[in-house]
Amino acid sequence: MSSRRKALTGMSAVMALVAVAILALTGARRPPSVELVDFGVTPRATAPVYDAVVRPASRAPIKEFHIPITHGRIQIAPGKFYEGWLFGGTVPGPVVRVRQGDRVRIVVTNDSPMPHSIDFHAARIPMNDAFGPILPGQSKAFEFTAEDPGAFMVHCGTAPVLTHIMNGMYFAMIVDPADGWGTRADKEFVVVQSEFYSQLDTATGELAMDRKAAADRDPSYVVFNGSAFQYKQHPLDVAEGDRVRFFVVNAGPNFASDFHIVGAIFDRVYPDGNPRNVLEGVQTWGIPAGGGAVFETTFDKGKSGEGMYAFVTHAFADAEKGAVGVIKVGTAAGDAMAMH
Ligand code: CU
Ligand code: CU
Repeated sequence: MSSRRKALTGMSAVMALVAVAILALTGARRPPSVELVDFGVTPRATAPVYDAVVRPASRAPIKEFHIPITHGRIQIAPGKFYEGWLFGGTVPGPVVRVRQGDRVRIVVTNDSPMPHSIDFHAARIPMNDAFGPILPGQSKAFEFTAEDPGAFMVHCGTAPVLTHIMNGMYFAMIVDPADGWGTRADKEFVVVQSEFYSQLDTATGELAMDRKAAADRDPSYVVFNGSAFQYKQHPLDVAEGDRVRFFVVNAGPNFASDFHIVGAIFDRVYPDGNPRNVLEGVQTWGIPAGGGAVFETTFDKGKSGEGMYAFVTHAFADAEKGAVGVIKVGTAAGDAMAMH
C-alpha cells in the first residue's frame, strides 16, 4: 500500500469515528417528550364521590393541560343541586400534578356565557397577561416552569373574585419536589376545602348563589372536594400499615381550614407543601384561604391501625356544615361519625 493510500485510509477511519460520535450525540438529544392531558375528554370522576386518590406524575418534562370552562349543575350536598361555574366540568376542577422543574403548558377554553380567567398560585409569571380575561368562545395559552414544590390553589380571578370562587372555580395543583418527598407514601389523596353560599331559587326548585351570605361570611355548606359529607357515605380506603400523604388546598373563598384527623397525629406537615417547611408531631394545622399544605400520617398496627377515623376542619361550625369525612383503615366497620 502506498503511503498516500495509507493516509487516505487513516482519514476515512477518523471520519467514520467522527460520524459515529455525531450520531451518538444527536441521538442522546431527542426532542423532549410532551404529555398532553385534555380535561374536556377526561374529567375528574365525581360519582359516587369526587375521586380523592391522586396518582404519580409522569416523567414527561413538558406537560400540557387543556382545561375547558363551562357552567353546569353540580351536587353540593346530598340531594342539593347548584348551578356551578366549572373548570374541567367538576368542582373542584381536575387535579394538575407535575414535578418541580417541569415546563407546564396551559390552554384554557371558555365555553361559558361570561368572561372568566385562571390564576395559578404555582406560577411565577406576569399575571396581567397569563391571568387576564378569557371571553366567551375564546382560549388562552401560556406556560411556566414549576419552580416551587407544593400544594397550590388554582382559581378564576375574574372580578368579583368572591363570586367566581364561591361558584366553584378552583382546583388543586401538586408540584412534587425534584428529588421526591423523602418519605414513603402508600396512598396519596387530594382534599380541597371550600364554602358554598346558596339560597333556594323558587323558579327552579334548586339552589342558586347567595352573594349577600358570601359577603356576610355565612356559608350554607363547607365541603371537602365539592360536596358536603360525601366521604361519610364513601370513606377513603387505606390498609393497615399504610403511610398516607394528603395534599390539602383551601379554596375558601372566606374561611381558614383547621385540618385534623381524629385518632391520628401527623408525623409530618409541610406548610404550603414545601418539604423545606417541615413540622413534626402535629395534631391540627391551619391553612389560610388560598393556601395549601401536605400532611403525612401512618396507620400502623397498634396505633392508628384498623378502624375508622374522621377527618375534619376542627372549626366545628364548619365541620357540621359538611367539612367532615371518614378514613376507613382495613376492613373496619362502624360509625366514625357518632362522635364527630
Ligand atoms: Cu370565573
Ligand atoms: Cu389567588
